[in-house]
Amino acid sequence: MLETKFENLEPLQQDLLRKAEGVMKNAYNLYSHFYVGAALLTKKGSVYVGTFAENSSQGMTICAEPAAVLAANTNGERMFEAIAVIGAGETFDALEPITPCGRCRQILYDFSQIGQYDIQVISSNTKKDKILLATISELLPRAFGPKDVGLDLERFRK
Ligand code: THU
Repeated sequence: MLETKFENLEPLQQDLLRKAEGVMKNAYNLYSHFYVGAALLTKKGSVYVGTFAENSSQGMTICAEPAAVLAANTNGERMFEAIAVIGAGETFDALEPITPCGRCRQILYDFSQIGQYDIQVISSNTKKDKILLATISELLPRAFGPKDVGLDLERFRK
């Protein structure tokens, strides 16, 4: 786990974060008035973006990260290398890096097992001057996963 700034990121990481930033504005933020964008890099080099959708039936929120994950899955990709996440309030900047919530960490962890790769999570604050680089296993240590239920993931890899 490492804290850094935008200018110290690799070009690919910077590009991913910019793409996440680009979709923040589309957050369907009925209640929170918050903004989050996510951009997911796959093993094939594609990038899928996502933002969150709240719901009039509160408690049904779909976060930005699974939105990006499902966009990738819908397009036939399940092997991921990295995900960038950034957020902001309507009237305030997020001072700390926006890290995936607990449920999103579990979703990313399962896909890390499918992709056999410890997905890098690039979490940024609004100004991109405080960025946390971590892997999904660092964010969710000792995770419950497919291995615990004896699942063979081989036929799901693509
Ligand atoms: N949210 C995300 O989409 N991803 C995160 O990593 C953190 C939180 C959303 C959920 C909720 O709709 C809003 O941000 C404020 O909590």
